[in-house]
Amino acid sequence: MTVPDNDLRDLYQDLILDHGKHPRNFRVLPAANHEALGHNPLCGDKITLYVTTDDHGVIQDVGFQGSGCAISVASASMMTEMLKGKTAEEASRLFDYLHNACTGQPTDATGLDEDALDHIQALSGVRAYPIRVKCATLAWHTLQAALKDKKKVSTE
Ligand code: FES
Repeated sequence: MTVPDNDLRDLYQDLILDHGKHPRNFRVLPAANHEALGHNPLCGDKITLYVTTDDHGVIQDVGFQGSGCAISVASASMMTEMLKGKTAEEASRLFDYLHNACTGQPTDATGLDEDALDHIQALSGVRAYPIRVKCATLAWHTLQAALKDKKKVSTE
């Protein structure tokens, strides 16, 4: 059955609202072996991301703390759920997919996790509001920094 476009938009809105109001993995990870602070200087919002990887670089757990707008919190929350079990390379490809989806660029999604792509698709509505692209990508920039052991990153 094909879902009408309006219903899809409502569904995506609901997903963002739910994650924005009830963020998942909003916690410090005491055993994290990667950590970074992400900052959006346009609004002053900041998040700290904690990542635990195993000896093979596979992400075992992700948590975050901080304050931000509903989109940045929802994006961080969704990201923490979609990254468990992924390698840094898979995480990087998902970030590219998100960034391109938010800016209207095509991306090769071959081999990427379909659930993760669905969640990313929910955030891609920000492309109608370019200033909000930084909100949707703040957590992802922070993740890239954490995995490269950079302690701080800015969306500028
Ligand atoms: Fe600050 Fe969205 S308004 S991250």
